[in-house]
Amino acid sequence: MNTQDLIANSVRNVPPSGIRKFFDIASDMKNVISMSVGEPDFVTPWNVCQAAINSIERGETHYTSNSGTPQLRKLIEKYLSERFNVHYKPEQMLVTVGASEALDLAFRALLNPGDEVLIPAPSYVSYEPGVRFAHGISIPIITEEKDDFVIKPENIEQAITPKSKILVIPYPNNPTGAVLSAEDIIAIQDLALKHNLFVIADEIYAELTYGRKHVSFAEGFEDRTLLINGFSKAFAMTGWRLGYAAGPKPIIDAMLKIHQYTMLCAPIMSQKAGEEALRTEMSKDYYQVREMVRNYNRRRVFVIESFRDMGFSCFEPKGAFYAFPNISKTGLSSEDFCRRLILEQHVACVPGTAFGTSGEGFIRCSYATSMDNLKEAMQRIREFSAKL
Ligand SMILES: Cc1ncc(COP(=O)(O)O)c(C=O)c1O
Repeated sequence: MNTQDLIANSVRNVPPSGIRKFFDIASDMKNVISMSVGEPDFVTPWNVCQAAINSIERGETHYTSNSGTPQLRKLIEKYLSERFNVHYKPEQMLVTVGASEALDLAFRALLNPGDEVLIPAPSYVSYEPGVRFAHGISIPIITEEKDDFVIKPENIEQAITPKSKILVIPYPNNPTGAVLSAEDIIAIQDLALKHNLFVIADEIYAELTYGRKHVSFAEGFEDRTLLINGFSKAFAMTGWRLGYAAGPKPIIDAMLKIHQYTMLCAPIMSQKAGEEALRTEMSKDYYQVREMVRNYNRRRVFVIESFRDMGFSCFEPKGAFYAFPNISKTGLSSEDFCRRLILEQHVACVPGTAFGTSGEGFIRCSYATSMDNLKEAMQRIREFSAKL
């Protein structure tokens, strides 16, 4: 039996992640500085870890309610309301295994075969495969450096067909670091109303903005938005695998149906840790997240200035922890640039094309690594680009 033939077309036709490829090359080499990973270099705050340890010591090692613990959902309600003026009730929420599970559930709960999902490009690597696994069709809406990588309502409108059902709004954006202003959001909301589109807003980087407060797409638009968020980026909790979705109850109920048969619940110790993270974040004397943001900001300024000093055009990211410099003047493709950079200088970055073909000419550089590493990486990139 050729077991390869058993693989479903919807899976076979999806290429492996372009981020993983460079990550894997890096892991086989010595003295590599990685700017390729999309996770905080900080360790989870100790009080959060302690909350999980305490819960295990109390013998809390069982399943929770499929939707997530009532305490955690109440805290999420308070957090979204206080922080972003977004109002969902605990019964309109589902606690998931990372924002990743929430995205997967959303596509599976909402898409019929052939339904179209409009997605800004470049964007996070998982949306397109997630749509394909759910038998939908993703339609990229190109965003450009000259527009600060903000999605333009007129470009969305041009792409709309009778099959258009969902619009994904992923800001602050991975990989570009772009954010949306309140005016941008209102224009897109008007368009969603006009064309009866439902919005999935992935706001996992909402806490990581520089010089301006995040405006949530769901604010005042709760009944047309599925808001996805999680603990990985803001609280340096990638390994805990904890996220959530908040949205109209029928949609949350549909997602819950899949979640209860496939996942049951997010790990109880992670949920206890998440409760502590939100509780302390909302007690005004707690500065851990803000301290991390200040730290990212110093690195962000350094990395952008370094690229500009080398003569690269580099959009100033206003959120997340990535720089997205334009390397097209070197004449190399994004993929060749990254391959040569890692082989010749041992610096790992991700080609912009890992985030869609519109990422050609760009590379994604994560500054979620120490300042010492960044200084060394920038020096090596300077030597590399001088040789080109
Ligand atoms: C935009 C975006 N959404 C979702 C995720 C997934 O996050 P989680 O760790 O909560 O699954 C990531 C991770 O890199 C991301 O960049």
